[in-house]
Amino acid sequence: MWRVRPSTIGGSASVPGDKSIAHRALMLAGLARGTSVIQNLPSGEDVRSTASCMGRLGVVLDLQSGSARLDSAGELRAPEQELNAGNSGTTMRLLAGMLAGQTFSSRLTGDASLRRRPMGRVVDPLRQMGALIATRDGCAPLDIAGSNLHGITYTLPVASAQVKSAVLLAGLFATGTTTVIEIVPARDHTERMLTALGLNVRRHGMSVQVERGTPPNGFELTVPGDISSAAFLLAAAAVTDGAVSLDSIGLNPTRTAILSVLERMGASVTAAIEREETGEPRGSIAVSGRIERPICLCAEDVPGLVDELPLIALLATQVAGESVIEGAAELRVKEADRIAAVTQELQVLGADIEERPDGWRIHGKRPLRGRKVQSHGDHRLAMMLAVAGACAQGETTIEGAEAADVSFPGFASVFASLGAAIDED
Ligand code: S3P
Repeated sequence: MWRVRPSTIGGSASVPGDKSIAHRALMLAGLARGTSVIQNLPSGEDVRSTASCMGRLGVVLDLQSGSARLDSAGELRAPEQELNAGNSGTTMRLLAGMLAGQTFSSRLTGDASLRRRPMGRVVDPLRQMGALIATRDGCAPLDIAGSNLHGITYTLPVASAQVKSAVLLAGLFATGTTTVIEIVPARDHTERMLTALGLNVRRHGMSVQVERGTPPNGFELTVPGDISSAAFLLAAAAVTDGAVSLDSIGLNPTRTAILSVLERMGASVTAAIEREETGEPRGSIAVSGRIERPICLCAEDVPGLVDELPLIALLATQVAGESVIEGAAELRVKEADRIAAVTQELQVLGADIEERPDGWRIHGKRPLRGRKVQSHGDHRLAMMLAVAGACAQGETTIEGAEAADVSFPGFASVFASLGAAIDED
């Protein structure tokens, strides 16, 4: 449980490594031949779930604090036990793609929240490629009988990097060419990493193609800081009239839309790419000044901001005028139903926020009052509510705050180091 009182957030801090990049690095290290070393590996539970699945698939893993060394023969081995993805949708969906074309069978399961989330979105295209996968009414556990796959051309019905990546990873084990066509571009870490490792990936406009791959060589990679974790600290500065600067954050353009949102809402934002490694740009970000304008976001904006929308909803409660976020029905199938949960908890704090089928209509600026709120077992809800607590009057108590460990273990100490009046029980 966290207790948060009004605070101004300022200073500099480090955030954990990027979760999306870390999952992919661990998985591709398992497909590589030889030794791979991953530095700045985030220690959150989601990434640990991927590491544990790779261990069960025969990869020799030496996990240290902040790094991992993986030795792989360039092919996966049949797991003796089921693979548990915990709370991590990325682990389950990307592994489903990697496992569909193996010569062995496997079972993928997860925690109660993950077992409620839709898996048909990856199972359908994988079946079109020839995969044999049994589900429980479209959900996990997934029983995957390894089979021969063939390439397909697949137009994504949902703008999802997880689905795109599952199909591309399956394509590495399929005959012929596998093509994924996006309607709105989603994060492209898989394509960038495959290209950096020398695999044959081509992008033409909105389509990405892969061919059957030979195992890449082991590699070294330093994971940049996670901009989706950084977002909580940057937004906290912008809503409390503070100033936060962060170094070595991933600045992949498919992930930086939150910076433009903060700027459009009136904060002063600078971001400078310092270098690129394994295809991923990284650099420093500084945010200061107070947001003061409402924001309207539609379906096209959603993939670039999908994990930041609960936070943006909070920001919208703190600026005068009407903000509208629409085209975000995907949020209903995240770790929690984020549209309902955000509405419910921000209303408890006194916000004027209306739930809509695919987003919210928010009238600012209503002062927030500290109350008891719930994370709904969702890491991003827990951290958004901590930021709300910093700008609410009185004390905000966040129950289920330990959910934050999924992506940002130690969030409360980092937040406190930036001036947040936060206590952890
Ligand atoms: C992710 C993709 C997004 C995002 C998730 C991580 C990824 O999910 O919400 O936190 O690493 O590919 P969708 O692809 O379902 O939008």
